[in-house]
Amino acid sequence: MSSVTRIRSATGGARGGRIALLGTGVVGSAVVARYRQLVERGVPLPPFAWLSNSRAQVANEGSLEDAIARAHAAPRQHGGVPPWAEGEALARGDIVIDATASDTVAGWHAEWLLRGIHVVTANKLGNGGDLARAQAIVDAQREGARYGDSATVGAGLPALRLIRELVAGGDRIHAVEGVLSGSLAWLLSRFDDTRPFSDLVREARDAGYAEPDPRQDLSGEDVRRKLLILARAAGLPLEARDIRVSSLVPDALRDAAPDAVDAQLNTLDKPLRERFVTAYRSDARLCFVGRFDAERGASVGLRALPLSHPLASGHGTENRAAIFSDRYPDRPLVIQGPGAGAGVTAAALLDDVLRIARQAG
Ligand SMILES: NC(=O)c1ccc[n+]([C@@H]2O[C@H](COP(=O)([O-])OP(=O)(O)OC[C@H]3O[C@@H](n4cnc5c(N)ncnc54)[C@H](OP(=O)(O)O)[C@@H]3O)[C@@H](O)[C@H]2O)c1
Repeated sequence: MSSVTRIRSATGGARGGRIALLGTGVVGSAVVARYRQLVERGVPLPPFAWLSNSRAQVANEGSLEDAIARAHAAPRQHGGVPPWAEGEALARGDIVIDATASDTVAGWHAEWLLRGIHVVTANKLGNGGDLARAQAIVDAQREGARYGDSATVGAGLPALRLIRELVAGGDRIHAVEGVLSGSLAWLLSRFDDTRPFSDLVREARDAGYAEPDPRQDLSGEDVRRKLLILARAAGLPLEARDIRVSSLVPDALRDAAPDAVDAQLNTLDKPLRERFVTAYRSDARLCFVGRFDAERGASVGLRALPLSHPLASGHGTENRAAIFSDRYPDRPLVIQGPGAGAGVTAAALLDDVLRIARQAG
């Protein structure tokens, strides 16, 4: 392919590794913007060889700004070989950044690692997908390539890294519970019964805090994936079906066609109002919590937490995770901070890139 030829000539070969970005949406665009800022500040990042979305792959021939503008402007295509399949463009030591939500792209993570290509991902469908896929990703790293997944949970908050370090240090994780969805944290922190919940959902969607189809957040599926990633890091080999998920989405909204979703949002209002009033009367706060427990299993859903609970504080889109282990049996180790948004996610991705580049160098 001509684009592959241009990639090689643009970077002068694979020595030292090059970056290939998949996904030029909200997160991918933020990665490009941050990459440019960091390079201007003299941070030694690997060269940016190419970027790709579902429509085009574009070589960086000197101006990243031009490259991303060309990728954004590419027309919709049907059929043909998707850009990610051009695996032969990549060489040992290169770094793929996956900023898509594509199951197909996630299916390539282990294959790239086996070829000696490092993978850095915001896409949770790699180690938050099927257990067999997650295990293949772990096994493939034995060949030497590295997997950077800091951005998949808490947008780079160090919860995932900390769990792995505790386990590597001989600690045993008993339980982890967390507020792991920035959009649900934002919705529930704003919900005080002065406005219908559906109004807040529309506001969150319009401001970009929630997905264009808010059912993706409200169903709890995103939290389920994050909990799977944390549980597996703690040594619990869970499958998605092992986590009980209590969706906030009523049946009528769940079954609505995409263009009827907005009209059905008000089906959220009555049940959420009832939960809020009950919680308020007992001095509790509603939080959407994911929890796994080595003894008692794993669940995702809405809980009314006393105000003194470690997960009940926090503002806006903040994420929180409480870790109980042999070392922290009664009072958990708590990590809290901004855990959503394109800026912090892009920073987490490029932190992983820099860590890998340093280790490879
Ligand atoms: N947004 C956040 O704050 C946030 C925070 C943490 C993690 N994440 C995760 O980051 C990922 C990206 O999120 P986003 O908000 O940036 O999504 P987005 O705006 O929808 O962008 C997704 C990008 O992936 C591209 N894509 C889809 N299939 C592809 C394929 N087969 N090959 C190459 N590119 C492909 C899309 O191409 P087209 O442009 O051609 O459609 C688009 O550019 C998701 O996994 C999300 O869960 C997001």
